[in-house]
Amino acid sequence: MSNLRSYFGEDFEEIAKKIKLLKDIPRFIAFEGIDGSGKTTHAKLLRKFLRTLGFSVVLVKDPGTTQLGEKIRRILKSNLKISSTSELFLFLAARRQLVEDVIRPALRQGKIVISDRFTHSTLAYQGRGKMLLPETLPMLCFIASGGTEPELNIVIDVAPEVGLKRVKDRYSSDGGNKDRFELENLDFHRRLRDYYIEISRREPNVILVDASKDVLETFKDVVIKICEFSSDMQFGNR
Ligand code: TMP
Repeated sequence: MSNLRSYFGEDFEEIAKKIKLLKDIPRFIAFEGIDGSGKTTHAKLLRKFLRTLGFSVVLVKDPGTTQLGEKIRRILKSNLKISSTSELFLFLAARRQLVEDVIRPALRQGKIVISDRFTHSTLAYQGRGKMLLPETLPMLCFIASGGTEPELNIVIDVAPEVGLKRVKDRYSSDGGNKDRFELENLDFHRRLRDYYIEISRREPNVILVDASKDVLETFKDVVIKICEFSSDMQFGNR
């Protein structure tokens, strides 16, 4: 992670040149995936990569980043009794604050925003996972984001068995407790993954990256897919 340029070698210069030539690199990119997929690592790597190329980048976490978002995140991660619908509204409130306080101002300043989760997490976890409000959920999500949605969503795809094992290992090594979502069973995570796979087939702005390889190999795919997406955008293929 420390020296991406040397890892990418000649590829780095080539990719850098390509990205700089692209007029339309997406300004708002979200990383999605099941628990333990490694999306947070990739969001951080992309921030580093784009900064190395001279872009101004803001990385946010949904829920999180704002004062309200961080408080909500703590509540959600606690063992407080919260009904599924209340939980949904907490996620949406955190997102709204994030959009107003951080994302919109950053986009207005011409920065690139990378978000660790966004609307598709709600559609996956609350929609597909918990089967909550199937008719109204997309509308509630739209109200929360006010239409400020990622131009590109990158799904970091791993098998649920792999993701859950990583979560388990992480918690056994730091002695912490799993939060309410990470405690959900394998079947729940399989449903989430199915959702992500389905939307990546259906929606042109959702791309899936196979993360069964080593982290930097996977990250290379992330960058290549962003380049492909951007050039398709530029030439009107999407
Ligand atoms: P993470 O950001 O550390 O991945 O943890 C957030 C947890 O919250 C994760 O298990 C996914 C879950 N989540 C939802 O259930 N709905 C949402 O809308 C979002 C953003 C996250």
